[in-house]
Amino acid sequence: MESIVVQAPSGAYNINFGPEIWQQVEELAKGYDQALVVSDKNVAPLYGDRLPFPIYTLEPGEETKNIQTIAEMVDEWAERGLGRYSLVIALGGGVVGDLVGLTASVYRRGIAYVQIPTTLVAQVDSGVGGKTGVNTPRGKNLVGTFYQPWGVYIDPSVLSTLPEREITNGLGEILKYGVIQDPALFQVVQEHISDFYDVDLRIVGPAIRRCLEIKGDIVGADELDEQGVRRILNHGHTFGHAIEKATGFKRHNHGEAVLMGMLLEARLSHLLGMLPSAVLQEIEGALFRVRLDYSFEHLDKDEVFSALHEDKKNRASKISFILPREIGRVEEVLLSAGEVEKYWNEVIRP
Ligand SMILES: NC(=O)c1ccc[n+]([C@@H]2O[C@H](COP(=O)([O-])OP(=O)(O)OC[C@H]3O[C@@H](n4cnc5c(N)ncnc54)[C@H](O)[C@@H]3O)[C@@H](O)[C@H]2O)c1
Ligand SMILES: [Zn+2]
Repeated sequence: MESIVVQAPSGAYNINFGPEIWQQVEELAKGYDQALVVSDKNVAPLYGDRLPFPIYTLEPGEETKNIQTIAEMVDEWAERGLGRYSLVIALGGGVVGDLVGLTASVYRRGIAYVQIPTTLVAQVDSGVGGKTGVNTPRGKNLVGTFYQPWGVYIDPSVLSTLPEREITNGLGEILKYGVIQDPALFQVVQEHISDFYDVDLRIVGPAIRRCLEIKGDIVGADELDEQGVRRILNHGHTFGHAIEKATGFKRHNHGEAVLMGMLLEARLSHLLGMLPSAVLQEIEGALFRVRLDYSFEHLDKDEVFSALHEDKKNRASKISFILPREIGRVEEVLLSAGEVEKYWNEVIRP
């Protein structure tokens, strides 16, 4: 299958698709003095043996995404003799990808790495774009770098072993791509939600590809998130992040919070007179087809607003929202907390 080229200013790279990627990575590794796979304890037993390289496994889960793991990984890589001309292969979800990307960017001032994303979230989002990061007790992704992978290799068939909740998680970002940029993608996905849960590759494969074309273009235009182009990817994320934070990052995973955020932001857009009610209904219809409980009564409003106040996208003490105007087109709106508060009861209605 044809690859997608990401034209990042710091260097172009390919996103490759299909069952042949394992062979392609093996070939690529021949050009390096050694290769190491980094994965986690769920993914390694399932897919580790598809690559003939030593494998280093991390504990699965967001708790592993911290500075301590970076330090351990640096020691491990040094002990194994990885040098300037070694290749590291990130095989796993966003946690593995973000950790490997960050470590690769600083280890010996930067070594080569590729991504083999294995979750829906990682295949449509975190595996591409070069944002790396770890969490500290003071914040999510507080420490990170921009460091593009040498290549991204996607085999959508690995999604068949994902738990249902991880499909929901990925659907958040996929529907987001539809709302921000692609009505056709939005239509296909909303009509085929259950095919995502069944991992029907005839539907899921092309949808992943389309998401990556969109993300690849945006990253090419605004690699370092400076020009505002990349900002549209934050649709659903202003309320989404606030919901994650207000619930201590425990109750909802990121994609679930983004789905909830998309619902609230679509309603907000409608209340501000920016989105016709027919389009709001269409967006709501699609979101409600995803297997997620959209209830908001557990949220503490003060916690949500204090998180909104601290949002890193805020400018001139206003909160930045990327709101839909129609399916396929969004617009940034800056609102004061007071303005948002006025609509709170209305946006969280059942
Ligand atoms: N860098 C970016 O641009 C970017 C974008 C979005 C999210 N992220 C980050 O990504 C992380 C979330 O990533 P995620 O949602 O992939 O979570 P994850 O990496 O924690 O994976 C979710 C779970 O699925 C398991 N798993 C992975 N692949 C599997 C497979 N094929 N079969 C069975 N189980 C499998 C993992 O072991 C884990 O338990 C967050 O830390 C987030 O900050 C980064
Ligand atoms: Zn996101």
